[in-house]
Amino acid sequence: MTLLRTKSIEQTLAASEEEGHRLKRRLSALDLTVFGVGVIIGAGIFTVTGKAAQQYAGPSIALSFVIGAIVCGLAALCYAEFASTVPISGSAYTFSYATLGELIAWIIGWDLLLEMMLGASVVAQSWSEYLVTLLGQLGVTWPASLGPGSHFDLLAFLLIAALTVLVAIGIKESLRVNLVLVGVKVFIVLFVIVAGLFYVKRENWSPFIPPSQPGKAASGLSTPLIQLATGMTPATFGVLGIMAGAAIVFFAYIGFDVVATTAEEAKNPKRDLPIGIIGSLIICTILYMAVSLVITGMVHYPDIDPKAALASAFIDVGRPGFATLVSAGAVAGLTTVVMTLMIGATRVTFAMSRDRLLPPSLGQTHPRTGTPVRLTIIIGTLIALIASLTPIGKLEEMVNIGTLSAFMLVSLAIPVLRKRRPDLKRSFRVPGNPVVPWLSALFCFYLILNLSIETWLRFVIWMVLGFAIYFLYSRSHSRLETGDEAGALEAGMPQMLDES
Ligand code: ALA
Repeated sequence: MTLLRTKSIEQTLAASEEEGHRLKRRLSALDLTVFGVGVIIGAGIFTVTGKAAQQYAGPSIALSFVIGAIVCGLAALCYAEFASTVPISGSAYTFSYATLGELIAWIIGWDLLLEMMLGASVVAQSWSEYLVTLLGQLGVTWPASLGPGSHFDLLAFLLIAALTVLVAIGIKESLRVNLVLVGVKVFIVLFVIVAGLFYVKRENWSPFIPPSQPGKAASGLSTPLIQLATGMTPATFGVLGIMAGAAIVFFAYIGFDVVATTAEEAKNPKRDLPIGIIGSLIICTILYMAVSLVITGMVHYPDIDPKAALASAFIDVGRPGFATLVSAGAVAGLTTVVMTLMIGATRVTFAMSRDRLLPPSLGQTHPRTGTPVRLTIIIGTLIALIASLTPIGKLEEMVNIGTLSAFMLVSLAIPVLRKRRPDLKRSFRVPGNPVVPWLSALFCFYLILNLSIETWLRFVIWMVLGFAIYFLYSRSHSRLETGDEAGALEAGMPQMLDES
């Protein structure tokens, strides 16, 4: 059956070792952990958390983070096993092409594209909100008609345009610059926790789980699907609010899977990737829980600013200077998240066009820069338009549904691969197979059910579009169909991280 045809793992591994197309293996477990923390900490904690606390969960948003961490932790174990078995660039798309077959690989690739393109857009919007807050604190008023939340967010547009040029001319995420920016970001987060502690009022935490109430945020198309499916009255807060909150703050964890895309650049991928993936996830979980407790302790949840929650909390307690520092840190820190997600989107599309599931002309690298310039410009333009033209707060859920679907498929793939290829050397194994991978898939599905009906409808449209492209184009052009293996790797995968 052609839908189930796979690219053999040996073929994939051998191709990555081909002379001239090999990426340098120089990243250590620590580099990968730093890289992971750099991608993970972003708009999720700086913006989305405040909004979710205000609309869905109140102080119990900290519990939503625990649930998010459990779901991501299980999925991370599955990612780590995959990455340690098939340590090849391209993340889940490549893993699944080698194991589950072309159609599933296509679906995962299509989901990853949604995750990374819309993820970059959301973080760009959050960046623009923090920049406007920062400018305001410095006495500069940015015209509201060209700011975040207007019809055209010029700042988000300009950010993406500038980053597109950088990515196209082949700037790699320099490890050193990345290290500095990650340092700044972690410092700001720790600063919020430590400085904020002094302004926590215990009464703001009570009730810790606000009583469930029929909510404006949960009516009509914005009702979580599970509430409609089970005939519950749409409600926010309460236990259901914690669940809905978890499905939303899940966004804050996205990115550990991007660590898996650096597999070909890791010194000892089989050991270092699991450490990088799981290590960065643990660090972020601790920071997130602490930040969410502090913010909901500083500001009574209905009054939390849904835009720049962390900076505004300090304005609310009369420390505008601290707010300026937090905004400046957010502006610097969010930039790398956008760039990494953009590079990730380019890489996945590049891998798909190398396999001929997308037109090969897309993946052509420029003779001078060695990067897929055309592809970068197309993706950059799409992201710039999405970030500047779509209303704020509508995209996060789409990112989450795309990512959760990919996680679900990756988890289900683990027991399948164990059965089909017991011979493969796995230096990291998910404990408790098959129960743990199945649980992981089940939890992801449960979170997806907690996303709104609106999000489901948009996701269905995205998938229909994906299937249409697959059946009308990709299936017949695939290298596995045409048997065109010659020059399969005429274009190497652009490298993600640079040592300089
Ligand atoms: N986890 C990333 C963020 O929060 C996507 O911005």
